[in-house]
Amino acid sequence: MPRLRSILSVPGHSAKMQTKALQSTADLVMLDLEDSVALAEKEAARRQIIHTLQDLPEHHPRLALRCNGLETAWFYRDVIEILEAAVDRVSVLVIPKVENAGDVACFSRLLDGIERHTKAQQTIRLHACIESPTGLVQSEAIAATSSRLEALVFGIADYSRAIGSPLVSLSGHGENEESVYSGHRWHYVLSRLVAAAKSVGLQAIDAPYGNFRDITGLEQSATKARALGCDGKWAIHPEQLDVIQQVFSPTTTEIELAQRVLEAAQVAEKQGLGAVAVDGRMIDQATVQLARRVLDKE
Ligand code: COA
Ligand code: MG
Repeated sequence: MPRLRSILSVPGHSAKMQTKALQSTADLVMLDLEDSVALAEKEAARRQIIHTLQDLPEHHPRLALRCNGLETAWFYRDVIEILEAAVDRVSVLVIPKVENAGDVACFSRLLDGIERHTKAQQTIRLHACIESPTGLVQSEAIAATSSRLEALVFGIADYSRAIGSPLVSLSGHGENEESVYSGHRWHYVLSRLVAAAKSVGLQAIDAPYGNFRDITGLEQSATKARALGCDGKWAIHPEQLDVIQQVFSPTTTEIELAQRVLEAAQVAEKQGLGAVAVDGRMIDQATVQLARRVLDKE
């Protein structure tokens, strides 16, 4: 499964931003038809996305499409019209506002049909956005629904609205959270989403940070998400990509620690020991596995 440290959202109506996003270093570029597109522009944005996709010189392996949600009048045409026109240009379909396993199953079956009809060369993967309490309590079932799924994504602004939590910043996307809660306001939500995702081998992706001029705030938000087990974070501006990619990659200190653990483990193995002391710290087989995982992620 490809690593998803950074996912850059780009409004579906903006040809200029799409060109820029496609040249960026994002692990995935998401052409968005949902909340970055005005209601009156939904169909124009769909046409723009088809144009962008058909204009690509070749298959772009890092392209996602976010369609509108199942509760709208647009979602089925978003998927059918765009994928019939350019099925082999899209690697991932991002589903907003997923509430239960049936929502994912619906998109999965729709994709089965489109891929058969278009004789697609690849299987489109799915990301499910968890952005309501209903979605969160169903997240374990959602994560286990379809072999197409590769990630669960936290939708912070919609989740805040759905649970009746206050708007604490202009954007409503992750800033100024400490003003209403002294701990980490999204600790439970992210931890539950991470457990649901990881229990079936999916990646867990944090919501975007709305203040795109505040790189320090972005770094803090991403660092907390990574500590809770998230693999990556959405970006809404190209200037957020470097920090996000850096935070979701192992640091030099982590790599050095992991190497020391493996060296100590080799010595221990020769001595027939499972657990050893290094500098007054215990290293056992779980530490070794953790260290291997750090180095795998390099
Ligand atoms: N993808 C690609 N390019 C982007 C971009 C994005 N998400 N956001 C900004 N840019 C480009 C701008 O077009 C501009 O390009 P230019 O230098 O060639 O003119 C450059 O980056 C600098 O942009 P800036 O002036 O700092 O911001 P802006 O006022 O143009 O855009 C937003 C600000 C918030 C409107 C814009 O970043 C945006 O639409 N982000 C995505 C929103 C979204 O997808 N929301 C839904 C998911 S939560
Ligand atoms: Mg949302």
